[in-house]
Amino acid sequence: MCGIVGYVGPKQAADFLLEGMSKLEYRGYDSAGIAVFDGQTIAVQKSVGRLNNLEMKLGSSLPKGNMGIGHTRWATHGRPSDLNSHPHTDCSGDFVIVHNGIIENYLHLKEDLIAKGHVFASETDTEVVAHLLEECYQGDFEAAVKKVLTIIEGSYALVFMSKHDPGKIICSKQDNPLVIGLGEGENFIASDIPAIINYTRKTYILSDGEMAIVTPESVWVMNRQGVPVSKKVFEVNWDAEAAEKGGYEHFMIKEIYEQPKAIRETMSGRLAKDDSSIIFDELKWTKDDLANINKIFIIACGTAYHAGIVGKYYLEQLARVPVEVDIASEFRYRSPLVDENTLTLVISQSGETSDTLAALKEAKRLGARTIAITNVVGSSIAREADQVIYTWAGPEIAVASTKAYTTQLVSVCMFAIYIAGMRGTLPVETIKTLIRGLRELPAQAHELLEDVEPIKTFAQQYGFAEDVFFIGRSLDYAVALEGALKLKEISYIHAEAYAAGELKHGTLALIVDGVPVIALATQHDVYEKTLSNIKEVKARDAVVIGIGLKGDKQLVKYVDHTIYIPATEKYLTPILTVIPLQLLAYYAAVTRGCDVDKPRNLAKSVTVE
Ligand code: G6P
Repeated sequence: MCGIVGYVGPKQAADFLLEGMSKLEYRGYDSAGIAVFDGQTIAVQKSVGRLNNLEMKLGSSLPKGNMGIGHTRWATHGRPSDLNSHPHTDCSGDFVIVHNGIIENYLHLKEDLIAKGHVFASETDTEVVAHLLEECYQGDFEAAVKKVLTIIEGSYALVFMSKHDPGKIICSKQDNPLVIGLGEGENFIASDIPAIINYTRKTYILSDGEMAIVTPESVWVMNRQGVPVSKKVFEVNWDAEAAEKGGYEHFMIKEIYEQPKAIRETMSGRLAKDDSSIIFDELKWTKDDLANINKIFIIACGTAYHAGIVGKYYLEQLARVPVEVDIASEFRYRSPLVDENTLTLVISQSGETSDTLAALKEAKRLGARTIAITNVVGSSIAREADQVIYTWAGPEIAVASTKAYTTQLVSVCMFAIYIAGMRGTLPVETIKTLIRGLRELPAQAHELLEDVEPIKTFAQQYGFAEDVFFIGRSLDYAVALEGALKLKEISYIHAEAYAAGELKHGTLALIVDGVPVIALATQHDVYEKTLSNIKEVKARDAVVIGIGLKGDKQLVKYVDHTIYIPATEKYLTPILTVIPLQLLAYYAAVTRGCDVDKPRNLAKSVTVE
């Protein structure tokens, strides 16, 4: 997974390339490079490390030229190093390319090319593409690219530039995203919209198997056989500001604060005025289509997987359908029992996660009906699924997912109510109560965000703990999993979530004097039992931060610190409880001086297996 950019037009390409790459660093940031063509020479500059290493290397003398390509890398084949950074060139230096994805048959191709006399400079899979292009070139750049695309196997978004063809960039994609920004007398290429939003709002979103020939005046899209494809212009309607930090220190905290708005927008137009039903105009299923569903699989990775665990409670308890939740990378390799009466729901913020996409394809192959909850319009997962529910969270840039999670919960909750309505498993009064609860969420999330000082203080107090445990039962346990993930991924504190009742079967051995335990106690039906578990850890001298519902008078007696969330419906508590946990992780990471938006070894969008 990597970020790629391209520019062709009248301006100095390097300016756009560097700015665009800075907006794509969330896709990978272990090395960066650019190639700029001035009509005579292609200048390639690259550097291991963050983009600012490259910028420092370039200094004030940016390579001159009106077209170029750039890349910010997350290493797969070949460790991060100057040589393994993109762009890659062929032996002659006449062809340069950048790539996001994995060329699966590269070893075999590399052997073949070495036998033909090609000399490789890097350990990457990508470099074979540049040499292959050189090998296939017989005076026609386009024809050579087409030929290369018939030989390589795997996933890619590729951008090609040739010294033989000034003023023309060619790009193509398979299983990795690629967007073309349509300017006036200039055109842009990028992995994602934030890179181009300051330049144009008119875009073409390439589909798998498409290739585009991009010049300053034109963009020709065709399939790999060269048959023209007519593309619809996709007009980006986000605020450019939405892709920037807007005064916050980090994207993560900005995105945490955007949750009231994101939740409101995700519900917008989907709650019936009289609160009696959920409206999903975009879903084309009839009652009959859903009548035969006897099982739902929820498949996702990371934070989206945790949203899926909450989704299981929603769908089983509200719509009364058995649900299995699976990690995408596990699902595909365990011969899942899926048939035409199975509904597969995949959840993915980016819509590009490779494991999730592959699991979705597998479920389809096995005959399941499929639906995706995703945040990115036109993403691979959105296109692959039979039906799509979009979360309207806006771009999420920080690697640690926050507003995507809460909007995924809202979406899956609405979906469960929708299915329950169709299957007649909930009395209208219950639906109305839930929908009224949903309506209150944006204001309640806002209220939670108004006073973060106590959370900041806990984070400062316990930010240097070695281990932190999160416990809860039922929906609280599901949220505990996400709280622990947030803390470990950005602050590097070892954090574990346990079903509170399970502690005594092993983990209690780790609870010793002063270990922080975050105890979630918002579920009425298991409240007393959770209190008993809190007493168990207090008896071992843990420091307990209790999270309860406003109005709870008991909790305070058993814990060291309390955080209250506004009282809401039992099913809706996760959407609020997670907010203090996100804040705790954020302030702990800040306290420890961590790089909050770009945690080590991680990336936002994981488009490799
Ligand atoms: C990466 C990100 C996580 C995210 C997961 C799934 O690991 O760091 O924050 O939850 O991918 O991403 P998706 O885009 O499919 O929700």
